[in-house]
Order: sequence, then C-alpha cells, then structure tokens
Amino acid sequence: MFRAPGRVNLIGDHTDYTGGLVLPMAIDRYTTIEAVPQTSAIDLASTSDVSPVHLALPVTSPENVSPPWGRYVAGVAAELGNDCRGFRGTVSTTLPIGSGLSSSAALEVAVALACGAPHEPLALAQLCQRAEQRATGVPCGIMDQLTSVAGVKDHALLIDCHTLEISPVAIPSSTRIIVKFIAHRRLASSAYGQRVNECATAERLIGPLRSASLRDVDSIADDVILRRARHVVSENERVRQACAALRASDLARFGALMVESHASLRDDYEVSTPEMDAAVEAALEIPGVYGARLTGGGFGGCIVILASMDAQITVDETTSWEVRAVDGALSALR
Ligand code: GLA
Repeated sequence: MFRAPGRVNLIGDHTDYTGGLVLPMAIDRYTTIEAVPQTSAIDLASTSDVSPVHLALPVTSPENVSPPWGRYVAGVAAELGNDCRGFRGTVSTTLPIGSGLSSSAALEVAVALACGAPHEPLALAQLCQRAEQRATGVPCGIMDQLTSVAGVKDHALLIDCHTLEISPVAIPSSTRIIVKFIAHRRLASSAYGQRVNECATAERLIGPLRSASLRDVDSIADDVILRRARHVVSENERVRQACAALRASDLARFGALMVESHASLRDDYEVSTPEMDAAVEAALEIPGVYGARLTGGGFGGCIVILASMDAQITVDETTSWEVRAVDGALSALR
C-alpha cells in the first residue's frame, strides 16, 4: 500500500517557479494505491474513473496516454525509465480531484512509490514535478510535490524554492483551517503558462524576482509585467512576515497577510475569479475568521480560511473540509 497526501497552501502562491517562498502544509486527505508487483506493465484501476490504465514498460510518450488521468501515471513511469517496476492494483482518493488541493501531485507521489522510486525526498519530489510537466505540459513549480512528499504533522512548511531548504513552522493548535471548493479547473487550459512566461520577461528586465526589490519592480515600463513582478516580490515578503506571525502565534496578523495575498493575486496577478473573490469576502464576514484567500494556482479550485476554534463555520465534506497538517508520504514512512 502506497499513500500520499494532498496539500493546501496557506500563503505564497505563484512564487515557486521563480525560486521564491511558499508556506503550504500536507493535509489529511490522501491518494492510496493498493498493488501487487508484476513484470513489464502497470495495470491500474481507479475508484474515481471507469477507465483503467494499462502501460507497457518502459513508457516513452506519457503525453498521449488514454484515459487522461493515466498521463500522470505514465509521466512517473517515463521519468523512471528502465528503473520503473511494474505493478497491478487500484487507486482511490479522499481528495477532491481537479480542485486545487494537489490531487495530481498526490497521485504522482503514490505512483512513484509503487514503481519503486528512491526514497530521497527532494529527488522524489523533483521526479514527480517533471512527471507532471511531461503529462500536462504545464510548467509547474515544486511546491505541490515537495509538500506531498515532505509534509510534517502539525506544521506548515516554509520552502525556499531556490535553495529547496524546508523549515517546518508549527501551527498553533487553537486554529481551524477550512478549505472551500469553488470550481473545477485545469491548469493546462489556464493562463498558468502565460504567467510563467510573464515572470521570465520580468526577470530579463530586472534579474531574479526572488532577490528583486519593489524599487526594481517600479522600473519596469510595461504595466502588465510590472504588476506580475510586484505580486511575486510582495508575496515573498508576505510569506516571510506570515512565518514570523505564525511563530509568534499572531493569527490576526497572519490573517491580514492572507487577505493582502488574495488582493495581490486578484489585482496584480489576475488569477482569481469573481466566485473566489465573493467566497473570500463572505468568509471574512464570519466572526472568528482571521483571514481567507485563494489557494494554489487559482482560476477556480479552492479558497483557504484560517479561523479560531469558535468560528461558526460548518463543513459538509463535499464542498468544504476542515483539514489538519499531516506527515508527507516519506515522512510517514520513517
Ligand atoms: C500550482 C502549481 C504549483 C504552484 C501553484 C501556485 O499548484 O502546481 O507549482 O505554482 O500552482 O502557487
């Protein structure tokens, strides 16, 4: 049995692919593969899709595999090449699929473990990141896969996506973290790739965004590129301040930074939607809510809410969930 969790990002979105800072946590929703070894092929059924995946090993063209969910499996197998072990089994998940809680990263990590990938956290996460990029064509960063692999129970992970150093930050036990589903989305058909390109343009003008200042950003003539860069530079600073607030158990400050992050993702980075904005506004009306923001890539997906224990928020387990920080797939094996 191989199991990997999804993730929610508390703050620091669209910063990982320019080597910035993120603060996600692995959540107590998992993708699980039950499998027996076999030679030369992967045969995987899914409790979420009627079509099973059959892959002869070695896999060379993951992007053309059918059914589409099999592309994540094939991406991992292709990355492992001749080292990929075959298996036959079933995958199931307690994560909502395609909802911005990293169901795809959890699938990749569970598959990689089932395929016999080495248990070195960073190498495993990077292999799964490359698998996702090959499977979907989306130039995603490392946050989702690294969190699923290396999560730490009761902690968020401050990840420096340049040095890839991970610093766990304890989440005060008196907090509720609630995730609310807004809309299905696929990053492949979104402007995610365009945002990655816009950041690359900004970096050609002012150098690495992870070390740029807001003064540097102000020298950019193009208004769109300026706003994209301003989001990234200010978001990195918000992550730094959010970590300090968490370490000081200053949840009001943490919540205020979440709200600023949402505004920046909405106005400067333009990855929010009217539904996500309305859901954040509605959450902020509830007494006991410290903060709320979109989480992950945006264009749909989920919002995350940080609240006190007595906040009047009910979850229905279908469109909203209360989540806890858990160990990642490898941390749990140790
Ligand atoms: C998606 C990507 C991540 C990250 C987020 C935005 O989840 O897979 O690498 O870029 O969007 O923070």
